[in-house]
Amino acid sequence: MNKKTVRDIDVKGKKVLVRCDFNVPQDENGNITDNRRIVSSLPTIKYLMENGAKIILCSHLGRPKGEVKKEFSLAPVAKELSKQLGIEVKLAKDVIGESAKELTSNIKEGEVVLLENVRFHREETDNDPEFAKKLASFADVFVNDAFGTAHRAHASTAGVANYLPAVSGFLIEKELNFMGNALENPERPFVAILGGKKVSDKIGVIDSLLEKVDTLIIGGGMAYTFFKAMGYNVGNSICELDKLDLATELMEKAKAKGVKLMLPVDTKVGKEFDKDTESKIVKYTEIPDGWEGFDIGTETIKMYEEELKKAKTVVWNGPVGLFEFEQFAVGTNSIAKCLANVDAITIIGGGDSAAAIEKAGLSDKFSHISTGGGASLEFLEGKKLPGIECLQDK
Ligand code: 3PG
Repeated sequence: MNKKTVRDIDVKGKKVLVRCDFNVPQDENGNITDNRRIVSSLPTIKYLMENGAKIILCSHLGRPKGEVKKEFSLAPVAKELSKQLGIEVKLAKDVIGESAKELTSNIKEGEVVLLENVRFHREETDNDPEFAKKLASFADVFVNDAFGTAHRAHASTAGVANYLPAVSGFLIEKELNFMGNALENPERPFVAILGGKKVSDKIGVIDSLLEKVDTLIIGGGMAYTFFKAMGYNVGNSICELDKLDLATELMEKAKAKGVKLMLPVDTKVGKEFDKDTESKIVKYTEIPDGWEGFDIGTETIKMYEEELKKAKTVVWNGPVGLFEFEQFAVGTNSIAKCLANVDAITIIGGGDSAAAIEKAGLSDKFSHISTGGGASLEFLEGKKLPGIECLQDK
């Protein structure tokens, strides 16, 4: 990575504003159900503590759209951080108000203060310069470690860098190193698996990966748009009729580039969108009217596994079926188990694929699971991320 990190600056005695992505899922009682994003932020925070910085953390949680709403408070995050760090992390009652001013002005070396949810101000997502300036006024240095929000040009992810020296934390460094190396310098064969509902969500990433990979494996709802483009009946399966030409173009591009584009050869179809619906496996050319495709079939799983076993670098983004329903999670779980055992660099895009792996209990079996859903997708598409662009070059 060509951006400066916390290692490149002197933080002793300095007030350091650290943007993290503490946007973590919670149950109805406010209990954090997946603390991965908090745990992933600890190396940077601990480094700053050990090196005598005064640490001011900030983050968003959910989308409160400029309103102060109790259910979007970072209070559960402050509690979890205190537990993980073994010190009290004080939570300011506001973001740039009296409470934040008081806590940040009295902070001592090695202490950690967390500001309230930055999205309690609409100015955050508007990237308002005055708001960014006020946030920046609490600190001497800005550290961005919120990879999951690096694709947003918001006040706390990019705007503050106009007022403070800005460097990256260890999480952003790690994310960029894993994904950047895979894209720029992959050990081959390099295989990408793309799932998810719609081709339209993944056009950019398919297009960009066709320039890099040896094999592109397609799964999930978007496969049915490809089948339709090939002239087959897809029953009630999700299908983007306005993207049929695009699917054809992508198949042609793969051919022209010499990329092996693999589509399912069979699919598990169900009668209705219901976890207990009647289901059966059919050939991709024989999806009956009135049935809907929800997963890849047994033959496809075997075929994809054979390909993955040969790979040396694998990037996976998007489940290959409706993994939330057990009977349609077989494809996604089989791919996850296969990847957990291949002798290759395995990189998982965040969001649903990471959730599927978590659900399968395989999280520790991969080289890297990204903490960013949208951010990792945009990175794989080759887009510039504002939260990274704003940091100082080495
Ligand atoms: C995410 O969960 O993908 C990030 O925290 C970004 O959240 P956002 O999509 O609300 O900006």
